[in-house]
Amino acid sequence: MKQLKFIFTMVLAALFTVFVMTSCASSNEESAGGEGDNTLVMATSADYPPYEFYETAGGEGEPIGFDIDIAKYITEQLGYELEIQDMDFNGIIPALQAGRVDFAMAGMTPTEERKESVDFSDVYYDAKNTIVANADAGFETYEDLAGKTVGVQLGSIQENEAKEQAETIEGMTIEPRNRVSELVQEIKAGRLDAAIVEDTVAKGYIANNPDLTFVTLESDDASGSAIAFPKDSSLLAEFEPVLAEMQESGELETLVTKWFEDYYEQQEAEQEAAE
Ligand code: ARG
Repeated sequence: MKQLKFIFTMVLAALFTVFVMTSCASSNEESAGGEGDNTLVMATSADYPPYEFYETAGGEGEPIGFDIDIAKYITEQLGYELEIQDMDFNGIIPALQAGRVDFAMAGMTPTEERKESVDFSDVYYDAKNTIVANADAGFETYEDLAGKTVGVQLGSIQENEAKEQAETIEGMTIEPRNRVSELVQEIKAGRLDAAIVEDTVAKGYIANNPDLTFVTLESDDASGSAIAFPKDSSLLAEFEPVLAEMQESGELETLVTKWFEDYYEQQEAEQEAAE
């Protein structure tokens, strides 16, 4: 009898182990998270202050910014752990498509073309394009860029827009780069005459580089940012109500003030103190 009981317990234990293993395996399939099933992996391109960037020039530590705060808020509300994966902007859509990440926040504009590959939330912030250049360059419109070398971020809507413009503007050459920071460095080094960058981000870079300036291209279609998910991900339906709640409660507005006003003011104050 004792032996029977022992065998019975062993069988139960074995069954239990198999059950636990299979349920873990299936939830791992749903999430790209490596550290247990409660982790969501977010792709970003942390070259985009104040949306996502590193506080230090060397890029140590975790990225911070507007998108990061929104992501933290939403995942916390939903009871997930957040893991951030920094990559070139151009690699984000392929990472979503391959299911290597669960969602992406990178100041990404929901274009019709991208909607064929990924799903988007509602737009949570609007932006416009600008020309960034040396302060004495005096560029105001695309036409002023005739004969100039113009940088854009590879895979961005700015790349498409600038290429379209270049078709009709004499001698305007487009140079794509992986990171926005490279565009800024190359303007300073004189290798690029200008770059097309969103106003919100141009402001952040200019606050740190007083020799540069930007002008907003009023002619451009406004672009905005939305959260991207792999096609048919069930996460979209989980995220949307929290994003809507952030809009209604004023939480989003608080973050807009934090990153698009307070942060700039602080950057400018630091610049002035350094001069
Ligand atoms: N909004 C533009 C786009 O979707 C540029 C976004 C670039 N984002 C970044 N984190 N570098 O194409």
